[in-house]
Amino acid sequence: MKEIKVLSLIGGITKNSLNRRLYDEIVKHNTTGLQFETFDLASIPFYSQDIENNPPANVVEFKARVAAADAIFIITPEYNRSFPGVLKNAIDWGSRPFGFSLWSGKPTAITGASVGRIGTFGAQQHLKNVCAFLDMRVMNQPEFYFDASTSMDDNGLLPTSIVFIQTYLKKFEEFVAKGYNG
Ligand code: FNR
Repeated sequence: MKEIKVLSLIGGITKNSLNRRLYDEIVKHNTTGLQFETFDLASIPFYSQDIENNPPANVVEFKARVAAADAIFIITPEYNRSFPGVLKNAIDWGSRPFGFSLWSGKPTAITGASVGRIGTFGAQQHLKNVCAFLDMRVMNQPEFYFDASTSMDDNGLLPTSIVFIQTYLKKFEEFVAKGYNG
């Protein structure tokens, strides 16, 4: 299959972010044509309509990366049963100015890791509402809820998690290749 440029939005920004670790593991075990890249969402200032027509350079860069991506791969932590503000902020930037959203039609995977047993289910449900409004093409099946306490250890992913992730990536590659991009 042809190379597919995938921009991953990682909602965890701490030094030892679990979701960043999950991203690294996904890249390490990826056996598909999905070409992953990411962007430091913490470098993006708060969205304000005052500056949306003249955004700072890193926002310009972020928006160019979104525009160039064939697909979006979101890896979200769960904060208080929702997804973190840093991720919402990046999504808001990409949605504006009004009428020029970059998200519409983008094939999108929604995943996430937490230390809780529901593995970011609450965060993903809220995020799916936002993505639906933005007309993103979210892959609904398979779902990807990752409880880090049972799926990985200090050495990385457990073997069953590797199998699951490789299967998920293959499905997402097929999903993108089917051309669900508007
Ligand atoms: C959390 N955490 C958390 N976990 C969960 O399963 N459900 C939740 O609602 C919450 N809420 C929550 C709120 C806030 C403010 C913090 C800081 C943490 C725990 C969370 O899963 C854990 O800190 C992860 O390590 C966060 O992901 P990153 O930042 O490490 O990628």
